[in-house]
Amino acid sequence: MTITEPTPEQLAALKSKYEAAGQGQVFTFYDSLSSEEKTALYKQLAAFDPDYINAIAAKALAPPANDAAKPSSLEPLPDSARASILDSSPDDIARWYGQGLDLIAANKVGVVLMAGGQGTRLGSSAPKGCFDIGLPSSKSLFQIQAERIRKIEELAAAKAGVPAASVSVPWYVMTSGPTRGPTEAFFREKQYFGLRPDNVFIFEQGVLPCISNDGKILLESRGRVAVAPDGNGGIYNALVASGVLDDMKRRGVEHVHAYCVDNCLVRVADPVFIGFSAAAGVDIATKVVRKRNAAESVGLIVAKNGRPDVVEYSEIDPAVAAEEEPDQPGVLRFRAANIVNHYYSVAFLATIPQWAKSLPHHVARKKIPYADLDNGGETVKPAKPNGIKLEQFVFDVFPQLELSRFACLEVRREDEFSPLKNARGTGEDDPDTSRKDILEQGLRWLQAAGAEVQLAEGQPGVEVSPLLSYGGEGLEKYKGQTITSAAL
Ligand code: UD1
Repeated sequence: MTITEPTPEQLAALKSKYEAAGQGQVFTFYDSLSSEEKTALYKQLAAFDPDYINAIAAKALAPPANDAAKPSSLEPLPDSARASILDSSPDDIARWYGQGLDLIAANKVGVVLMAGGQGTRLGSSAPKGCFDIGLPSSKSLFQIQAERIRKIEELAAAKAGVPAASVSVPWYVMTSGPTRGPTEAFFREKQYFGLRPDNVFIFEQGVLPCISNDGKILLESRGRVAVAPDGNGGIYNALVASGVLDDMKRRGVEHVHAYCVDNCLVRVADPVFIGFSAAAGVDIATKVVRKRNAAESVGLIVAKNGRPDVVEYSEIDPAVAAEEEPDQPGVLRFRAANIVNHYYSVAFLATIPQWAKSLPHHVARKKIPYADLDNGGETVKPAKPNGIKLEQFVFDVFPQLELSRFACLEVRREDEFSPLKNARGTGEDDPDTSRKDILEQGLRWLQAAGAEVQLAEGQPGVEVSPLLSYGGEGLEKYKGQTITSAAL
């Protein structure tokens, strides 16, 4: 690799830009770096605009006074903007399912996976999607999701009476600096889980510098800025910058399902959700489940100042979270839990350049290893939070919409939501609960199909491969049979 150090003029221009923004400290060790390190640091710094970083950090740390003063009204979403699988008529659900399958068969549906998070709570350094939750098959989260895509392509093709190979649901996988390499290697090693490689598009979200508590860009070592992924809201800039949006348009994709990697029950490209959203003709739709209890770490879908919005668990007033319905004691007033299953029309995504930069940044206070400027750049691992990471949230686009352009579909938690957040042994949202939820779902499906299931001691259910059944369909052949195996 040839190293092209910046010219003295280029360096001087960049330095004066950072100095004028009060961020000249990032060049403290520049002169002592090797040629390679100089080039890398210059490249890293040239990718940021220090004035923009200052502006978003200042705004995130101190929201404008008039915003704080303005009372905001928080209400559950009105009935006009929501429906529930729990009480919709079977005819409606069947109609949405059929419409969704038709759109898939016409190659108008694409899927975006958000997999750029670092999974710090899970305590694994590999990307979360590679995680084996302990199923009898040892399938990773990525594999389960890929097989659901294969199955839904097959079901859609069968309904339309076209060859399976003519139906494609492109899978756009958003990674970040830390997760891209290992994700790409895993997909290659597993041969794209049987998907066509040209239907899998791995792309990378952006990063932002980490900022000290007094507003300075932190160096993580003498020659590198400390950076972190820009939050799952970085999806919008990344869809445009990486060419995903262009690829969707080129393929004629009109409807997009976006979701998070950590949910082992996710119905990828769910035809019911696609059909529901397309029939409603909205720009964005989302799925929710009933919140488990007031303390559950989930965001809430609400109407704030008359617009769709999400109040994040880290930002809600605990007293508001615990409010109950006046006429239904024990039922939370705000119970529409965000499970990060979002629908977008591609026509709406085409407007990203008009608003992506204006989405707010949220502050995450973290312990960020940094190069000590007064001590030769020695890297220090702080014991207390010493700075902030700035993150955009994927749902912060919701308030751009009138309520009439937004829809919400309540689904059954046991069928669609079991996130992997915590390390094994936590007892909540950990690998064991993920595994159990998949096995119990398989058991319910088989019993509903009329099978007799004999479970071994300690076995909570049966693993049903997504290649056999996407959502419980196609299991009629097991009627009257006795099933003793742990996985089908
Ligand atoms: C998220 C939701 C929360 C919801 C909960 C349900 C947001 C901002 N919050 O919270 O409202 O109730 O899931 O499980 O959506 N990710 C990236 N890039 C990043 C950061 C995260 O792609 O820079 C991805 C992660 O890989 C993951 C997803 O976003 O797939 C959610 O991230 P996570 O940090 O686990 O979100 P939660 O705090 O649990």
